Amino acid sequence: MKVLVTGGTGYIGAHVVRGLAQAGHEPIVVDDLRASKRERAGDFPFEQVSLEDTPALVDVFARHRPEGLVHLAGSISVGESVRNPELYWQNNLSAGASLLLACSRHPVRAFLFSSTAAVYGDTDVSPIPESAKLQPTAPYGSSKLAFERLLHGSAPSLGIRSAALRYFNAAGAHPEWGVGEAHDPEEHLIPRVIEAVVAGRPLQVYGNDYPTPDGTCVRDYIHVTDLAAAHVQVIEADELESGQSFNCGTGTGNSVMQVIEQVGKRLGKEPIVEVSARRPGDPATLVADPSLLRSKVGWQARHSSLEEIVDSAVGWAQARS
Ligand SMILES: NC(=O)c1ccc[n+]([C@@H]2O[C@H](COP(=O)([O-])OP(=O)(O)OC[C@H]3O[C@@H](n4cnc5c(N)ncnc54)[C@H](O)[C@@H]3O)[C@@H](O)[C@H]2O)c1
Repeated sequence: MKVLVTGGTGYIGAHVVRGLAQAGHEPIVVDDLRASKRERAGDFPFEQVSLEDTPALVDVFARHRPEGLVHLAGSISVGESVRNPELYWQNNLSAGASLLLACSRHPVRAFLFSSTAAVYGDTDVSPIPESAKLQPTAPYGSSKLAFERLLHGSAPSLGIRSAALRYFNAAGAHPEWGVGEAHDPEEHLIPRVIEAVVAGRPLQVYGNDYPTPDGTCVRDYIHVTDLAAAHVQVIEADELESGQSFNCGTGTGNSVMQVIEQVGKRLGKEPIVEVSARRPGDPATLVADPSLLRSKVGWQARHSSLEEIVDSAVGWAQARS
């Protein structure tokens, strides 16, 4: 299937592109490179287009005639969304609406959207099923939830099958694809820990008095290669009912301290940890119940042990330096 991948030079998108190609599909990369580099498109067909530019998008659809769409492009920082909510409504909702307009001219069979665990907000349910209360606490999660609703609501009249994948914490890198995590600024825990441990710099841990086994926050880390595989399975599942949202996580949590210790072990260096106050809005535990995705398409995580995630993330960081 020809699949247009927006945000296809980004961290997760570059893995999805390669996962689709490995499964025999033909990805077309669409990205305006605001947060990534052209080289990450590799040899795949590449269109440098901003989603806001509906005529340019319509032209891309007309030339490539994709049958599937994976929409990953977006703005990704919770903190930035609090400081600049307009950007998040613009880029995560309006720009997505522009993509739907293009689909109204050239409908695709399946439209997959990158959503987030942030749609659940500060919850004390664990593990979290898709039926949990949706109560995002920042414009990032609210804008993602709004687009989920717009997509699922528009899908019947557009004649497309929609699915939203709510990612938990994507991490790691495929060992051979050379497209690991490289956000700027980097806000995600594992690359930040690797950088600090390599540099011998102290690591800030925000709060060690949470109601978790070691007092630090617990998150569900999913290997980005497993995430890419989930996209392949969902886009191929023609029988899947439209309008569903799926958790993409493993069902197992690891704490901030466990991550730090694993990175230290892998690098053979003792991390220097400094504990400071909790950050407002950080839930104690966010772990997915991934059983819906498993039961609907048979997906399961295969590479998401903390050891394999950290090993691959360190491998990528060392290859870059
Ligand atoms: N990384 C995670 O753990 C995580 C967790 C939950 C959800 N997500 C979602 O997954 C998606 C991908 O995340 P990522 O970590 O790969 O981010 P990323 O920043 O690496 O990739 C996003 C890509 O989208 C492009 N882009 C952004 N806005 C665009 C626009 N208007 N037009 C064209 N291109 C545009 C950027 O240039 C970038 O290449 C995002 O939608 C994010 O919200 C990520």
